[in-house]
Amino acid sequence: MQSEFKEFKNASALDKTENQIQLNKLTRKLRHAEFNEVSEFNFTNINKDLFLLMTNITVVGLGYVGLANAVLLAQNNNVTAIDVDAGRVRLLNDHKSPIKDALISQYLASSLLNLRATTDKDAAYAKADYVVVCAPTNYDPDTNAFDTSVVDGIIADALEKSPNCTIVIRSTVPIGYTEKLSATLGFDKLLFSPEFLREGQALYDNLHPSRIVVGGPLEPSKAFAALLQEGATKTEIETLLTTATEAEAIKLFANSYLAMRVAYFNELDSFAISHGLNSKNIITGVGLDPRIGQSYNNPSFGYGGYCLPKDTRQLLATFGDIPQNLIEAIVTSNNTRIDFIADQIIARSPQTVGVYGLAMKTGSDNFRKSTVVSVMEKIQANGISVIVYEPMIAEQSFAGAPVLDDLIAFKEASDIIVANRLHHDLHDVAEKVFTRDQFGKD
Ligand SMILES: NC(=O)c1ccc[n+]([C@@H]2O[C@H](COP(=O)([O-])OP(=O)(O)OC[C@H]3O[C@@H](n4cnc5c(N)ncnc54)[C@H](O)[C@@H]3O)[C@@H](O)[C@H]2O)c1
Repeated sequence: MQSEFKEFKNASALDKTENQIQLNKLTRKLRHAEFNEVSEFNFTNINKDLFLLMTNITVVGLGYVGLANAVLLAQNNNVTAIDVDAGRVRLLNDHKSPIKDALISQYLASSLLNLRATTDKDAAYAKADYVVVCAPTNYDPDTNAFDTSVVDGIIADALEKSPNCTIVIRSTVPIGYTEKLSATLGFDKLLFSPEFLREGQALYDNLHPSRIVVGGPLEPSKAFAALLQEGATKTEIETLLTTATEAEAIKLFANSYLAMRVAYFNELDSFAISHGLNSKNIITGVGLDPRIGQSYNNPSFGYGGYCLPKDTRQLLATFGDIPQNLIEAIVTSNNTRIDFIADQIIARSPQTVGVYGLAMKTGSDNFRKSTVVSVMEKIQANGISVIVYEPMIAEQSFAGAPVLDDLIAFKEASDIIVANRLHHDLHDVAEKVFTRDQFGKD
């Protein structure tokens, strides 16, 4: 293997782009050998050479998307992660995950990753071959669009320090954003690659992607898709290369379809409640048609989280004058469902409602746009007192409601316990629980 490496290294004009994949494979083999066949080579020198030859990738933003991408890519490349949050950077450099994701924690603790983090732009961008942008794009209700200013700033910084790099946007952006920016900057190595991960399973979904989509000029798109494929555990991955605008549309239409599906089964459930019917039986019967299927059909208090609410609203805004009814209905259906659920709880005239868990997804530590929080606010607005049980938060109150850390006291003090998803913690108080979870899954 050593001779294989030397031959490769000595090949005169080593073109990093063309030989990137071959080199990364070799690097992986060598690092594996370092742990298994230590006596065979002098690795100190080899490692130094390898670091000089490996692809340098800078991942910007250490949230769900950035962490999963950084870990995935750091298996085979030299990855620098940058974040404005010094606490997150410190944690990563201590091999700890700033977010709750069991697999990320496991990989950081035990895997052979070429990964370091910094808050310093100069250090982060200086030698980047790729810059992967995973920063927030929050929805701005005043402009009715994503606020892309953070992404704009990152791209400007990256180009100033590393004008020849390829920039890949993994943040969700409005349809048309990438091509417009590319034209404004006169820079053609700007790609958009939608990220499809689920929070709580961010790395798993990158190791086993449902598909890889990269939009932009063909050659850099192919090269980036190859980096994602190479990091994945799954071997046969559907890979689609499109224009950047089509890739942006894939992201927003995919998320809006998921939101529509949630809204559909939730409206079915509202109908079943109103007529005293068994929602689970109806959904099971509906889903037995293989064209409909049994997945992603569990009723909830509404779709929520960071992505579905903002992505559906962005898509609706992007339609502009194009005739549509469905996209608007997805957005309004969710608000109707939240009101319906709150009314169901209020109609039971409880004195104290206990809210069990604030996160949208089981196993997640993210309360962003959680619909249980919206339900909770509506109950409070009706003068009903609310208490919260959420072991993930250290504060003693949340949205004006006391947070109890004693589960037994929480159960005793609650007349009704509201849970978006059932948990075995609640088995002994089943008669108090209000949930629409029919299948015990997300
Ligand atoms: N969370 C998801 O499930 C998911 C899935 C697909 C796509 N997305 C999209 O990906 C993007 C990121 O989402 P996320 O959930 O990872 O966000 P996040 O809020 O979890 O993380 C964003 C990170 O970026 C950092 N940051 C902010 N400004 C920065 C800057 N100027 N430079 C460097 N770092 C900066 C923040 O400190 C934070 O650590 C968003 O556009 C989102 O819509 C999210």
